Amino acid sequence: MKTIEDMDLKNKKVLIRCDFNVPIKDGKIVDDNRIVRSLKTIEYALSQKAKVILFSHLGRIKEESDLAKNDLKPVAVRLSKLLKKEVVFIPVTRGEKLEKAIDSLKSGEVLLVQNTRYEDLDGKKESGNDAELGKYWASLGDVFINDAFGTAHRAHASNVGIAKHLPSACGFLIEKELNALSSVKKPSKPFIVILGGSKVSDKIGVIKNLVKKADKILIGGGMAFTFLQAEGYETGSSIIDKNNLDFCTEILKKYSDKIILPIDFKVALEFLDTEGKNKDINEIEYNEMGLDIGDATVNLFENYLKDAKTVLWNGPLGVYEFSNFKIGTEQVLRYLIDNNIKTILGGGDIVAAASEIGLKDKVFHASTGGGATLEYLEGKTLPGIEAINEK
Ligand code: 3PG
Repeated sequence: MKTIEDMDLKNKKVLIRCDFNVPIKDGKIVDDNRIVRSLKTIEYALSQKAKVILFSHLGRIKEESDLAKNDLKPVAVRLSKLLKKEVVFIPVTRGEKLEKAIDSLKSGEVLLVQNTRYEDLDGKKESGNDAELGKYWASLGDVFINDAFGTAHRAHASNVGIAKHLPSACGFLIEKELNALSSVKKPSKPFIVILGGSKVSDKIGVIKNLVKKADKILIGGGMAFTFLQAEGYETGSSIIDKNNLDFCTEILKKYSDKIILPIDFKVALEFLDTEGKNKDINEIEYNEMGLDIGDATVNLFENYLKDAKTVLWNGPLGVYEFSNFKIGTEQVLRYLIDNNIKTILGGGDIVAAASEIGLKDKVFHASTGGGATLEYLEGKTLPGIEAINEK
C-alpha cells in the first residue's frame, strides 16, 4: 500500500482524513488519544511544506440538535496546542468561505474543516458516500492521505469518496495499525486471545475467525456468563445474551480444549460500584451478578499467558468503569506488561480501560479503532483501506 512517504507533498494542497472522533463532555475533550496519534502524519506533511487541510467526523448527526454538541472547534483548539501552531478552523463543510480559506493557505499551514457529518443532515451525504460530495471535497486538494483508521470500516464521502478522485496514500497511523494488527494474522505462538465485554453478539465474528489461529481464547467480562450458562452453570442475575446461547453451546462443543472460562467472580447484588464478594462459579446465588473475574480466574489466566508470545485482547474482563470491578482487567494487564509479553489491545473499551488504569502506553500496540479493529479481526475488508489499495 502507498504511504504518505511515497507522495510528493511540496506546495501541494494535501487533504488528510483523520479520525478525531474523540469523547467530548461539556465542550471539553475527555481523551485526546486519537488527536495525539494523528500528529505524526500532520507534522510530516507540514515538514514537507504541504498546505494541510484536515477532515474528520465527530459523533453522529441525525437532527439539528446534534450539530452544536458535535462541533469540531474544540479539536482545532487542542490540535493547535499539540502542534504548537495555529490551526485555522472553518466552521462549514463546503462553500465560498472554505474555498477562500484553502486558496489563501500557505505551505506549512494547517486548516481543519467542520465535522464532515454535518453533511448528514441533508440526506446522509457523508455517511451515504454521496458521489457529488466526495468529488467536491477532492476538488479542494491535490493529494489525499487517509489516516483515519477508526473510520476505515465505513465507506464515506470523506474517505472512499475523496480517494476515488485523487492520488491517494495512507498516513503513518493507518500504517502502524495495519502492521500491528496484521501480526495477528501470522502470530508468534503460543498465541492467546483474551475476550471480554458484555455482549457475545459483538464478538461472534472475531471468535469464529480467531478460534482456529489461537492456541487459547480466554473469556471474561459479561459475555462469559452466556458461555457458562451454555455449560449449565447457575449465573444468578448476571447479564446473559439469550439469543446467542446456541452459538456458545456449539463453539464450546467444537473447541472445548481452546476456550477457557472463568472459575470465579467478584459479585454484587446490584449494578453499583460496591466492594464485591469473591465467589466460586458454583456458589453464585440467584440474586447475585458477576461484575469482574475473581482471584482464582486471574491466576488461571496468568497461567495460560505465561508462555504466550503474542496476545490479542479485545474487551475488558469486568466493569472497568467501577473502581471495584476493574481489578481483574488491571491485574491481567499488569502481568502482561511485567512479563514483556507482546500485547495488542484492539477495540475501544479495552484501550479506554488501559488508559484509565494508566497502562495504555506500556503495551506493544493499543489500537485507535473500535468497530474498524473488530471488523479487521473478523477478517473483513475495510473499505477505507481498500480505496487506497485500489489506487
Ligand atoms: C469510531 O469511533 O469507532 C469511529 O470514529 C467510527 O465512528 P462511527 O461508529 O460513528 O462510524
